[in-house]
Amino acid sequence: MEIKSASFVVSNQKVSACPKSALPEVAFIGRSNVGKSSLINLLCDNKKLAKTSGTPGKTQLINHFLINENWHLVDLPGYGYAKLSKKMRATFGPMITDYLLKREQLINTFVLIDSRLEPQKIDLDFIRFMGENGLPFSIIFTKADKLKLNELNKNVSHYEAELSKEWEELPPRFVTSAEKKQGREEVLQYIEEIL
Ligand code: GTP
Ligand code: MG
Repeated sequence: MEIKSASFVVSNQKVSACPKSALPEVAFIGRSNVGKSSLINLLCDNKKLAKTSGTPGKTQLINHFLINENWHLVDLPGYGYAKLSKKMRATFGPMITDYLLKREQLINTFVLIDSRLEPQKIDLDFIRFMGENGLPFSIIFTKADKLKLNELNKNVSHYEAELSKEWEELPPRFVTSAEKKQGREEVLQYIEEIL
């Protein structure tokens, strides 16, 4: 898919305040600092579209972007960042789960996983939550540039084996690097297919 236009629409704390439009939407979720906003900027070929930061907890609201005038891309706050204040943590969980469970236009959620790490409980719990609630999702392994190819392949295989313990069929999977501009075409092509 070619990105002809991409613009910020609105930020919200509540799913009830999100755009009323019935345009299909695709969301990006994952632990704080996994690279959600950076990946969105890579996909849209615009470094300034979504705010990124080396400090976890940058994205704190549900952010809608209008793409090609016919679908929404949604940047979500990260989960699992221990250093956030208690009040922040208390609102993130419900904000994200409410959005995922109630947003009828949501056709797919990309769950981002840091390709460098061993499978983390919080991510596996999140993926289980998606499955238990019948929410369609795909997996993106991020920051591929930080590993040598053989390490990357080993980690991805290891993750797939871990998921296979619980899942008969694995969801679609992608490997990306915002740094090296890797994986853009594959993810965009998949979005085009599901749209
Ligand atoms: P929150 O909004 O805090 O939940 O984080 P996020 O998941 O949106 O992460 P963000 O895109 O802000 O990136 C976090 C940090 O990781 C930044 O310092 C990015 O530059 C870095 N980063 C993101 N993607 C990549 C990547 O593909 N490769 C490398 N090397 N660094 C990356
Ligand atoms: Mg972010």
